[in-house]
Amino acid sequence: MSGVKFLQAITVAIFILSLTTTTVRSCPPSDRAALLAFKAALHEPYIGVFTSWTGADCCHNWYGVSCDKESRRVADINLRGESEDPIYQKKHRTGYMTGYISPSICKLTRLSSFTVADWKGISGEIPRCISSLPFLRIIDLIGNRISGNIPTDIGRLQRLTVFNIADNVISGNIPPSLTNLRSLMHLDIRNNRISGPLPNDFGRLPMLSRALLSGNKIIGHIPDSVSRIYRLADLDLSRNQISGPIPESLGKMAVLSTLNLDMNNISGTIPISLFNSGISDLNLSRNALEGNIPDVFGVRSYFTVLDLSYNHLKGPIPKSMASASYIGHLDLSYNHLCGKIPVGDPFDHLEASSFVYNDCLCGKPLKACAY
Ligand SMILES: *[C@@H]1O[C@H](CO)[C@@H](O)[C@H](O)[C@H]1NC(C)=O
Ligand SMILES: *[C@@H]1O[C@H](CO)[C@@H](O)[C@H](O)[C@H]1NC(C)=O
Repeated sequence: MSGVKFLQAITVAIFILSLTTTTVRSCPPSDRAALLAFKAALHEPYIGVFTSWTGADCCHNWYGVSCDKESRRVADINLRGESEDPIYQKKHRTGYMTGYISPSICKLTRLSSFTVADWKGISGEIPRCISSLPFLRIIDLIGNRISGNIPTDIGRLQRLTVFNIADNVISGNIPPSLTNLRSLMHLDIRNNRISGPLPNDFGRLPMLSRALLSGNKIIGHIPDSVSRIYRLADLDLSRNQISGPIPESLGKMAVLSTLNLDMNNISGTIPISLFNSGISDLNLSRNALEGNIPDVFGVRSYFTVLDLSYNHLKGPIPKSMASASYIGHLDLSYNHLCGKIPVGDPFDHLEASSFVYNDCLCGKPLKACAY
């Protein structure tokens, strides 16, 4: 075979091979086009996460893209600015990306997981059309500069389990449709500018296990319905403008273990139920709570953190607190408590800072009582 003939044969063979791979294995051209339009709206100067986004098959070796094995449709986009991946280690830095999230992603109608996290500079809004992607399970946009509102009809995403938009500049109210997300397990909207009240029927979210809403401008009361969320383990409403009382029912929830309501405008007395519950991490600091600390501690009381500082609590430190199973960190400072600090196990390791700035507390670790 002459050199030229041989080359021709090879070329034909490669051509046939590439034909079969395109028909059998490549992603649909429409998915590829949608990804390229998504990429075109972003600018990532340091790491080069998009340099592999070339060639016909977007399911093959495109960084951060994976496809469904059967349909070859794009199923996951996973682009994190902070990653242990070698391409980041080579550059010795975390990622930075500007631009916006193109609505072209809504053409990826089989998208299941959409993570564009910790890029610090991505702005613009969450595309409205995202709520029309029926297979979406994960939306993770933490750590960008995304503005605008939560899409009004977010509640259409019946498979959504993770909705994380923390650390952005998103404003507006929590849309009422959010409580239709019947698969939602993890809601994280921390550190945005979200205002308005919590929907009254927040408790309709049957699968919710973590509700992290701190650092916003949420107003109004804590809806009683929250306590109907059977799987809720972690409720963080701190650093908002929530007012009204703490619902007694929060202390009767099956698996609630972290309750952070610090830095709000919560008033009334502390419900008895909170101190005899499964809650082990309780921060009620910097509110307008009044009355006595209920004298109801017992063996069920186990606190890694119990922070009641900066309220208007009065009366003595309840004696029963000494019979709690465990109190790791206790802060009762900046209240109007008065009387002898009880003696006993949880109190022995505590420092004066746990008790300072009250009206007239005395005894170890503060000054001895005069009587
Ligand atoms: C409780 O919340 C306050 C106010 O946000 C914060 O300063 C404090 O560190 C928190 N306490 C603990 C033990 O984390
Ligand atoms: C806190 O709530 C009280 C009523 O309980 C209200 O009078 C007051 O204006 C609120 N303060 C702030 C800063 O929202």
